[in-house]
Amino acid sequence: MKTSSIRVGLLAVGLVIGSGAAFAQQQATDIGKQEFTENCASCHGVDGKGNGPLGNLLQRSPPDLTQLAKNNKGVLPINRLYEVIDGVGVPSHGTRDMPVWGWEYRVENAQNLREARGRYDEAAMVRGRILTLLEYISRIQAR
Ligand code: HEC
Repeated sequence: MKTSSIRVGLLAVGLVIGSGAAFAQQQATDIGKQEFTENCASCHGVDGKGNGPLGNLLQRSPPDLTQLAKNNKGVLPINRLYEVIDGVGVPSHGTRDMPVWGWEYRVENAQNLREARGRYDEAAMVRGRILTLLEYISRIQAR
C-alpha cells in the first residue's frame, strides 16, 4: 500500500516535470524561423543574406532579405513583400525564379488537411504562414 502510493507520487512528479520540459521546448520553437529555414533558406541563405545553395542555379540571384528595410528608408515594405511571397494574382514580368508560396501553401494545406476539408479556413491559414514569415524577416533586418 505504502510503496504503491509512493510510486503514484513519483509518477505524478515525473509527469509534472515531463510536461514542464515539453512546455519549455514548445516555447523555444521559433515558428517564423523554422518556416524560413525549411522553405526559404535554400535560396536566400540560413541568415537571409541571399547565399543559399540553390542561388547559383537561378537566373536571378536571390536578394539579401536583411537589407529590405534599409533600402526602403528604414521601413519594411510589408504590403509589397506580402504580395511577392504570396505571388498569386501578381502579374509576372518574364520568368519568376521565386516559387509562388500562396499556391505552394494552398496545395500543402489541402494535402495535409484532406480529412478536415471544409472545416478550416484555407485563406486564413495561408495568410498566417506568410505573416509569420514577414514577422521573422522583420527581426533579421540590418540596423
Ligand atoms: C528557388 C529559390 C527561392 C526560394 C526557395 C525562395 N525565394 Fe524568395 N526570391 C528568389 C529570387 C530569385 C528572388 C528575386 C525575384 C525573382 O526572381 O523572382 C526572390 C525574391 C524574394 C523577395 C522580394 C524581395 C524584394 O525586395 O522584392 C522576398 C520578400 C522573398 N524572396 C522572400 C522569400 C521567402 C519568405 C521565401 C520562403 C517562403 C522565399 N523567398 C523562398 C528565390 C527564392
